[in-house]
Amino acid sequence: MAMTENDFIPSSYAELKVSGNTTWKSPSNIALVKYWGKKENQIPANPSVSLTLDVCATTTSISYTKLNEKATDFSFELFFEGTAKEDFKPKIHTFFRRIEKYLPFLKNYHLVIETSNSFPHSSGIASSASGMGALALCLMDIEKRLNPEITKDCFNRKASFLARLGSGSAARSINGSIVQWGKHADIPESSDLYGIEYPYKIHSVFEDYQDTILLVDKGQKQVSSTVGHDLMHNHPFANQRFAQAHTNLTELKSIFEKGNLEEFVKIVENEALTLHAMMMTSQPYFILMKPNTLEIINKIWAFRKTSNTHVCFTLDAGANVHVLYPKKEKEAVYGFIKTELLKHCENGQHICDRLGVGAKKC
Ligand code: PMV
Repeated sequence: MAMTENDFIPSSYAELKVSGNTTWKSPSNIALVKYWGKKENQIPANPSVSLTLDVCATTTSISYTKLNEKATDFSFELFFEGTAKEDFKPKIHTFFRRIEKYLPFLKNYHLVIETSNSFPHSSGIASSASGMGALALCLMDIEKRLNPEITKDCFNRKASFLARLGSGSAARSINGSIVQWGKHADIPESSDLYGIEYPYKIHSVFEDYQDTILLVDKGQKQVSSTVGHDLMHNHPFANQRFAQAHTNLTELKSIFEKGNLEEFVKIVENEALTLHAMMMTSQPYFILMKPNTLEIINKIWAFRKTSNTHVCFTLDAGANVHVLYPKKEKEAVYGFIKTELLKHCENGQHICDRLGVGAKKC
């Protein structure tokens, strides 16, 4: 039977530990089929699927100390890359409020949270997926010490469930190389509540798939994802878009299985451009691509035609470009990136990332 929110409320803990600490490293992820639009409680308007990254990640530690009595409010300190960060605290506070029901020990402890990213904070790379993923895993690790019976599957599922309540895409930053989040008719075990490792066959061409992230614009995001998701309410094309995501996921099943890169490219680029089309056609409307984003896209298309490779691009809700290609085409494609694409990045900046396996305990 499908799980519901209430299945994540634990029965009482046998004993509260006095103190301890835990550290987790959680990866970022890049969606192939995009999540854009949500219902209440971070329930996605459509299912999505993503590649887990390897290099881009957040490492978070929590030291916990039991309070003499349960506090009335959450008691925590927050350090980002070694410095106390008061301005990040409200976001964490909101997150704690949302998840308290599922982790009732939270107000029994004082928490010291220390977090750092493997990529520069101002790179325009969103850290919410990896950040909320790592935080959720640390909190689950504390819960596991209070309730050691919890199985690995339940642990991962609940970590993803909690991460989702921090940032939707964080549900896809816990476990697996290719992760599906959101209910889809062809995947009976899929859920709107948490991400799952993609359950069907993946062709070996996707092993070690490369993602070279081109930093076109490192500025502050023009549209926060909260505002962006909201733009899908009453959007004139919303229903067609949500239906398209379902169809694209159906088509990806045999593409993943057969390693059909020609078809893979069509779906991935179509999804990226649809995400941006939704933003261009909402009210208010936004253009999040920059001239250099378009230069890069046009050069990728021209190169693909002449090179016999399967390089393609995808985009987040911003101007940076993720260049995706199989490992066996790396020499040709990375050579092209260096000579043709890096001139369109801010100071030539880019990150060479690849398919990863999911979060790790440190
Ligand atoms: O997790 P959020 O709420 O920041 O939304 C992320 C949305 C996109 O990155 C644009 C798409 C996706 O599926 O990751």
